Formats: sequence, structure tokens, C-alpha cells
Amino acid sequence: MPNVIIVGAQWGDEGKAKVVDFLTEKSDVIIRFQGGANAGHTVIHNDAKFVFHMVPSGILYPNKICIVGNGVVFDPAQFLLETDELAAKGVKLDNRLFVSDQAHLVLPYHKIQDKASEAKMAAGKIGTTGRGIGPAYADKAYRTGIRVGDLRNWEHFVQLVEHAFDDKKEFVEKVYCIPFDLKLDTLLEEFSVIRSRMLPYIDDTSTRIFKATKEGKKLLFEGAQGTFLDIDHGTYPFVTSSNTIAGSACTGSGVGPTAIDEVVGIVKTYTTRVGNGPFPTELLDDLGEKIRTIGGEFGATTGRPRRCGWFDSVMLRKAIELNGITRLALTKLDVLDGLPEVKICTHYMINGIKTDIFPSDPSLLAHVIPVYETLPGWNKPTATCSSIDEFPIQARNYIERLKALCYSTKILIVSTGPQRLQTIEVDGF
Ligand code: GDP
Ligand code: IMO
Ligand code: MG
Repeated sequence: MPNVIIVGAQWGDEGKAKVVDFLTEKSDVIIRFQGGANAGHTVIHNDAKFVFHMVPSGILYPNKICIVGNGVVFDPAQFLLETDELAAKGVKLDNRLFVSDQAHLVLPYHKIQDKASEAKMAAGKIGTTGRGIGPAYADKAYRTGIRVGDLRNWEHFVQLVEHAFDDKKEFVEKVYCIPFDLKLDTLLEEFSVIRSRMLPYIDDTSTRIFKATKEGKKLLFEGAQGTFLDIDHGTYPFVTSSNTIAGSACTGSGVGPTAIDEVVGIVKTYTTRVGNGPFPTELLDDLGEKIRTIGGEFGATTGRPRRCGWFDSVMLRKAIELNGITRLALTKLDVLDGLPEVKICTHYMINGIKTDIFPSDPSLLAHVIPVYETLPGWNKPTATCSSIDEFPIQARNYIERLKALCYSTKILIVSTGPQRLQTIEVDGF
């Protein structure tokens, strides 16, 4: 298999982890490159359900190397929780799971800051996951962050935390006017245990990845969130705090762009969003509720109900442009089974003008009127089909129309259920 970047093409939760797990069989090294424990990546394997927030979703395949790259904001307590769960289920991690020493740590005070900031914004809040993502990336940009590699030298780490702690306390108490419910001693006690458990995983991961490519090993980059949560290109300010698009795989892992062969955009066959912000094709009626129920559309990190709506090809074309997507992986087609009709947004009306271009001004997005094409639905379940030829003709037509509206981009797979086997390869590598 070529070296592949997996990206979410919408607002996250497209089914990236399922596709990463599926493609891991043909890869050697799986790399998370941005985001943090805000990600909730679900893999169903042999009837066991795993939700990964920090550990790469390729970990269930024995002998594959999994890496948390430098671009991630790393939550060590969450990471160790996941390694414990994996070990309890018999998954061996020895010498195949590594964390970049250059990744920035998410510390408990980042979570306090995140929640306090949201509380202060009240009605205008972003609707973050509360995992401390924004404050951790802010410290990184402000050059006051503490990195995973700093754990190697305990005295040095203690000095850095002591230095940051008083500033954070003052900031939270004076700016947000809430009690700073954290004790330095408690934090350091917790981290002295974390440190000893983390040491075997800490690594110079960009060198490890480079050596792997020299040996002909195949790389699979696992994106988190989705294109329209990108801090530059998303629906700012209702975005996350990292670049989520494919270009971020290079900076977030230390791999040059010439190493990348393919970019696979993971696309739900409808649209969901969790958290606040504009959503042109949102269904605020019973149908939206029905899709949420059938699709199990509740956040894998926070349990919040996901907002649901029709497929938006205006967004998708923009996602293809921004990521350089070479193949699409279409997911959750089964969720649409049984609907009398399905709609695809082909254009937007913006201030009375019809356009097929996604506006770069996010304030316009809140007021666009979607223009839909309506297609007949299908009754036969797609979940039991093992090839696209077995799909009802209406489902095939839906996919063909969707593809045509997405620059006729090749379709790698169609996913018709959460299980590994419910994956139909259409145009493989
Ligand atoms: P990610 O964040 O992009 O990895 O996606 P999530 O794990 O947050 O959400 C996707 C959800 O849909 C998970 O519960 C998956 O198990 C499930 N899923 C993935 N693909 C399919 C599919 O084709 N059909 C159905 N019904 N569920 C799917
Ligand atoms: P995966 O990888 C869906 C959303 C939050 C909020 C915004 C900012 O599972 O697709 P943050 O905590 O990052 O500061 O929140 O981004 N968000 C996600 N939505 N899937 C995710 O990850 C998300 N990670 C963050 O809901 O709107
Ligand atoms: Mg998710």
C-alpha cells in the first residue's frame, strides 16, 4: 500500500478510526499527528468496542508500530488508561507504541482553563470537549508549554510545572473569577507516577519514522477531527485548535510532503456536527432525530447528541481542494436504508445568489440556504451486501451522484456497518 493520510472531510466523527483499522492490515506504521483526547475514535473488533482518544487506532493489529506524533497535545493520564484497557483485553504493546518527546503535554490546569473559558463565554461558547486542547495549543504557540520529553528529567519537569502553576492559578482566579481547584503537590504526585510509566514510550519519533521509510515500511497517518474544524480553514471560531487538514500530517510527524502518496477523505454519507457553529444542511426535525437514533450519533468523547443533516457536496468539494483528497471512503450508508427519499445539497443561495463555492467568510455560512437535489431512497438493507453490485439500484445511484458532485473522485471503500467486515472495497490502491 502507498503512504496514506486519512482525514475527516466534514466536522469529525466520519468513521476515520474504522477506516484506519481496516487499512492497518496493509500498513506498517500508524501515526496520529494532531489533536488530542478531544478525538473519540471507535473501532469494533470481534464484538469488542474500543474508543481511542490518544492511542492510534491501528493498535489492534499485532506487530504494527503505532506513534503519537509531535503535533498532538498529549494527555498522559488518558493514554495510560487506554494502554491499561488494551492490556486487560490481551493486546500486547511492548516496543511498538511510541510517543514523540516533542509533543506538548496537556496538564490538569489546561482542562480547568478550557472549562472556565467556555463558562465565561456563555451563549457564545464553542462547545469544546473540555479536554484542555485550546489552552495546551495556546501554551505551545506562546512557548510556555511543557513537552513529553521534559518528563525524562524529573527535577527539570518539576521546575517547569512550578513556574507555570502560579501563573495559571492567578489567571484562572483573576480573569475567570473561579476557584483554582488544583494543588501543586497533588499534580506532582500524579505526574511522578505518570512519568515512570511513560518513560518506555517516549521516543524521537520523527527519526523512527524516517528509518522506517528507508526500510520500505508503509505509513498510515490518522487524522483527528475534520476539515471544517481546522483552525485556519474551518468555521472559525467554532473550530478546534489545530490544523486538521492533510498538510498537518507532515508538520505533526516530521515527515516531508514528498513521502505522501495518497490522501483518503473519510466522508459520512450524511453530515453530523457536535458542538456549536453553523451547519447549513442541519435537520432540526423528526428526520434529524431519526438519523441520530439509527446512526447512534452521540459523541464518542462527551456523549453529546450530534447534530444531523443531509450530505453537503459544497462542503465536500472544498474538503477535496483543501486536503488534496485522492480517494473517498464513504461511511454509514446503512443508516440511510429505508428512508423514502434522500437529499444532497448541490449549491448554496447566499444573499439571493446561487453559488457552488463554500464561503471563506464563516459568518455567511449561518445564513446560506441549501439547494437540494432529491433522490429516491431504498428499502433493501445495504449492511448485508458484500459488493456494490448487490446494493439496491437507488443506493448505487445515490453514491454515483455523490461521486459526480465531488469532482468524480475515486471511491476507495463504502462502509455499511461498524464491523471490519462491513467494508466494501470499490477502487483499491
Ligand atoms: P471517528 O471519530 O471519525 O473515528 O468516528 P467515531 O468513532 O467518533 O464515530 C463513528 C461511529 O460510527 C462509531 O460508533 C463507529 O463504530 C460507527 N461506524 C463507522 N462506520 C460505520 C458504518 O458504516 N455504519 C454504521 N452504522 N456505523 C459506523
Ligand atoms: P474526532 O477525531 C467531532 C469539536 C468540539 C467543538 C470543537 C472544539 O472524534 O472526529 P475542542 O475540544 O477541540 O477545543 O473543541 O471541536 N470537536 C470534535 N467534533 N469529532 C471530534 O474528533 C472532535 N474534536 C473536537 O465538539 O465543537
Ligand atoms: Mg469521533
